[in-house]
Amino acid sequence: MESVTIFDKTFVPFISNEKIEAAIDRVASEMVERHKNDETVPVMLCVLNGSIPFTAGLMKRVEIPFELMTVKVASYSGTSSTGKINMQLDITGDIRGRKVVIIEDIVDTGRTIFYLCEHLKELGAAEVEVCTLLLKPEVFHAQLKLDYVGLEIENKFIIGYGLDYDQLGRNLKDIYVLK
Ligand code: IMP
Ligand code: MG
Repeated sequence: MESVTIFDKTFVPFISNEKIEAAIDRVASEMVERHKNDETVPVMLCVLNGSIPFTAGLMKRVEIPFELMTVKVASYSGTSSTGKINMQLDITGDIRGRKVVIIEDIVDTGRTIFYLCEHLKELGAAEVEVCTLLLKPEVFHAQLKLDYVGLEIENKFIIGYGLDYDQLGRNLKDIYVLK
């Protein structure tokens, strides 16, 4: 793997695709275990755009019925969180009385996921779970439980496997860190 340059920044290899796939295998098994006896069909909620590859990876492995919905929120500008959450596209279906599993690419401070959880409860979700591929434990401070975590990382800015630097880098199959 070589380094990648996007605009003014250079990124170096950080997490291999193999390691990412292994983490998704584990998360998918945990999800199946928790939902295989559900009496209502759970909703997998893909948080656009960053969670597209992670959601696709989970979908290939979670062999129980579920419904796919999407939502689009943004809080980052460049390489840091703005702190303001912007709902760009609201949820694509009716979640009243449903169990919803939020699929996130990364939880950083936790502000985005906290805001989303509250929003889904207001819309009438019966249960809200959080599933994230990556977590930065050093900066996470939200009062909420993360139900599934793929990998924990240091507080560094990363790109690849859905994650972007000003919209670029999402298509890299491995994860890279800012040099
Ligand atoms: P939070 O609200 O601080 O938890 O930030 C979560 C959102 O910020 C994620 O859904 C990502 O879109 C974005 N984000 C956080 N850390 C990174 C990173 O290292 N690279 C790219 N995007 C990130
Ligand atoms: Mg995101």
